[in-house]
Amino acid sequence: MNIENYLRQAAEKLDSFPRDTIVRIVSHYDTDGICSAAILMKSVERKGFDFHVSLLSHPFEEEFEKLKKEDNDIIIFSDLGSGQIEQIREMGADSIILDHHQPENKNPVVDSIIQINSNLFGIDGNFEISGAGLSYLFAKTLDENNTDLAVFSLMGAIGDKQNIGGWKGKNREIFEEARKKEIITVSKPSIKAGNDSIVDEIAYSVDPFYPGLSGRREEVERLLKELSIPGDTRYGDLNKEERKDIHSFLVLALLKNNIEPEIMNEVIKERIITDHFPSNLDVLSDIIDSCSKGGNPGLSLAFCMNPQKYLEAVKENSKRFREKILGELVKLEEKGLEEKKNLVYFVSGKASDGSYMSSVVSNYFNCKGKAVFSFTPKNGKVHVSCRATRKLVEKGLDLGSVMRETAKKFGGAGGGHKIAAGGTFENASVEELVDFIDGILWGGNANQMQTHA
Ligand code: C5P
Ligand code: ZN
Repeated sequence: MNIENYLRQAAEKLDSFPRDTIVRIVSHYDTDGICSAAILMKSVERKGFDFHVSLLSHPFEEEFEKLKKEDNDIIIFSDLGSGQIEQIREMGADSIILDHHQPENKNPVVDSIIQINSNLFGIDGNFEISGAGLSYLFAKTLDENNTDLAVFSLMGAIGDKQNIGGWKGKNREIFEEARKKEIITVSKPSIKAGNDSIVDEIAYSVDPFYPGLSGRREEVERLLKELSIPGDTRYGDLNKEERKDIHSFLVLALLKNNIEPEIMNEVIKERIITDHFPSNLDVLSDIIDSCSKGGNPGLSLAFCMNPQKYLEAVKENSKRFREKILGELVKLEEKGLEEKKNLVYFVSGKASDGSYMSSVVSNYFNCKGKAVFSFTPKNGKVHVSCRATRKLVEKGLDLGSVMRETAKKFGGAGGGHKIAAGGTFENASVEELVDFIDGILWGGNANQMQTHA
């Protein structure tokens, strides 16, 4: 099967609608989903359509019930949709799905739906393309002049951590093309820092989470004093020696937690710079994500469309959310993770915080080579977020399947990628879920872990 054929079919379908049609765009509320929505908004607008966008967070069921009641002629789903194909079918509207999550239905055409899921076309949705990447391919099929939107495609992939260890597959093609066309440039290797003071850059850094420093402003101030570096200096204004000192210290802090080499390699690296945005894409991807997870996905999207106007607002929201999350992470750092045979876990008060924290914990805490789970009990249901390292995925771990299996056992819904997945389950306590998942993690044979570890 050829993805280009279906992209063309989808573009022709959209093009066949009269220009007074309002194109409904439904996307996910993380950086990838927001970047997908930005690409679709821009490209649909350039075609002369008006649009109406919604950014959804898990669980999607309620939002989909609302969508079913709407009267839409054409709906584009990005960074989601393959997991909701039955509900979309019931809506009866012409629909285009641009998704990179594992699809259950393997047909690219289902009634009036064109399902462009990368995995159906031999493109690995874990590492080779994001929702924004697929939206970008669609935008380019609509009009080849849409190449400027590659910026959002790359930022979406960064949001989904697909660039760890270097760009791969379609992502690499998009990166190379954008670089050749000078839509992006690449900086000298640096830590993930924008235009704030070096104290703020380190103290507010969630990803990387610098053990003993992130969320601990006084510690950071003490460290900088020891290094004779004024804390209010911006990273970009530090001299070579000062940068070297800071780099060494941060790397040492990270090494204490035995983090994976692939994550270590991300700490000091080249950053993507563009004319559209006021800072590098790594920094902005985090700001967009934390502003959205803090409750303001609309603001993150507005920022993508008009960075100058919304920069301060989006940063302020991001900072507020980070303060809260860092408080939780510091507490967890002090208390330690709960440990079972095949996994480590913690309980979080809010599902979206657990989702956010589990990614950070997986990469920057000492997880003893095990997958990380966050559990949030609420209204008789338990939301689970889980994250693995690439090393565990290479050894055969598939968290998406684990979540689907858990849903089958207890009721509810679960799914996602091999490396990051989630679910909301019914009729089960945290303890029951922990025990069940610990048992099935490695293909139902808990002892298998020993041969994998
Ligand atoms: O909820 P959380 O953010 O931890 O989800 C991680 C991943 O699992 C996401 O990619 C999400 O799309 C997927 N997921 C899913 N079905 C669910 C919950 C999460 O496919 N019910
Ligand atoms: Zn995505």
